[in-house]
Amino acid sequence: MKRLKQHAIWGQRGSFILAATGSAVGLGNIWKFPYITGENGGGAFVLMYLVCIALIGIPIMMAEIMLGRRGRANPATTMLNISQELGVSRLWSVIGWMGVLAGFLILSYYTVIAGWTLEYFERATHGSFRGLNGDTSNALFSEFLADPTRLIFWQSLFMAMTVLVLAFGVNKGLETAIRWMMPLLFVLLIVLLGYAYSSGEFATSLRFMFSFNPEDLSWEAALVALGHAFFTLSLGMGAIMAYGSYMPSTASIGKTVIVVACLDTLVALMAGVAIFAFVFATPGISPSSGPGLMFVTLPVAFGNMAVGTIVGAAFFLMVILAAWSSTISILEPAVAYVTERFGLHRITACVLIGATAWALGLGSVLSFNHWADVQILWGKNFFDSMDFISTNMLLPLGGFLIAIYVGWVMTREQAEHEFRHDSVGLLKVWRFVLRYLSPIAVLAVLINGIFPLLTTVFSE
Ligand code: PHE
Repeated sequence: MKRLKQHAIWGQRGSFILAATGSAVGLGNIWKFPYITGENGGGAFVLMYLVCIALIGIPIMMAEIMLGRRGRANPATTMLNISQELGVSRLWSVIGWMGVLAGFLILSYYTVIAGWTLEYFERATHGSFRGLNGDTSNALFSEFLADPTRLIFWQSLFMAMTVLVLAFGVNKGLETAIRWMMPLLFVLLIVLLGYAYSSGEFATSLRFMFSFNPEDLSWEAALVALGHAFFTLSLGMGAIMAYGSYMPSTASIGKTVIVVACLDTLVALMAGVAIFAFVFATPGISPSSGPGLMFVTLPVAFGNMAVGTIVGAAFFLMVILAAWSSTISILEPAVAYVTERFGLHRITACVLIGATAWALGLGSVLSFNHWADVQILWGKNFFDSMDFISTNMLLPLGGFLIAIYVGWVMTREQAEHEFRHDSVGLLKVWRFVLRYLSPIAVLAVLINGIFPLLTTVFSE
């Protein structure tokens, strides 16, 4: 098999875990998870989400890393190399291709939202949350969204931050950045949780997140939980495959994946508990306030706290770090592809892809103001369409194809070759889940995503 000589390997122990956790922990954990928990009834949703992570997320993540480490190249070349080695159709490299495309689309809008966190960090440090109530906070947020120039400024800055890290390369850029970002993120999270414990409605928050009410179990919520399990673990688009390709052959994949999935879940739960503790401690605001939870509701809570400026700034700094360590993982597969396939210099590749994704992101910026009513897909504006195509379609489809490829196209020996350091029992369960449970569950999410779309089309 053709190996790429220049392909990097993580230089230090623990770097893969930190980088994969950095990829996984992002806006999905701190922005999305708390509000979808709020919207879907709390404890019952959390339980379904945990089941999805354990039964679907972990097995697919193991498969992705295995492929990356075996192929030792960017996702598209990895899939091509392995397929040639196995003597199966080269068409399977579509998994890598789709991943590169999905990453490109996600990057375009993810940097827009990540940009908002820069604005809110600045606001927090200036004490602008002081004395806010629900209405004034809402007005402040709407005013911000109505100003494309400001949105573009922050979007550009976030993209530049992402490009900057990757331009330095896998070891000097990515690895170095991740080794200071992740510890700082965890320290900030623990400080925030400690503060929530001492001053917020910590017990009410815990009850909200973990009290299980069987009536809240629903098929719809289960599908939201499963879709989110994909997004939050960065699965189905090659980010984890690319990081896996830098993993030394001696590391145990199973154990590593369990650590990453646990850390990702822990951050989502800790962020959720802290956020709801702040929300419950502030009269007049509610936990089920949807996507505005982080940008409208939380600033009210910070504005009414004794040391709200510091707590608010610490919170938004934490979100910036989380989003930043994710955007670099979203850009990496495409950069690896272009440098390895076309021999482009890494800096040129980073700037070129970053600039193109940035240009596409302008459509998402405008979706919050001038183009709010311009529909791209049925009933969806530009931003919602990008999110829908990538998160609801390409990621689950990528996950489905990975499960079929590793579970059915590869033989047991081929699939288990990279798992020399893992226990036989774990591998048995893994293979069974990957062959049967994962594809069926992922198909259910996909159909659930497409079905409402079809009904809209046919009812027109
Ligand atoms: N996992 C990231 C988050 O939760 C998002 C992401 C998706 C990152 C896909 C990489 C790939 O925010």
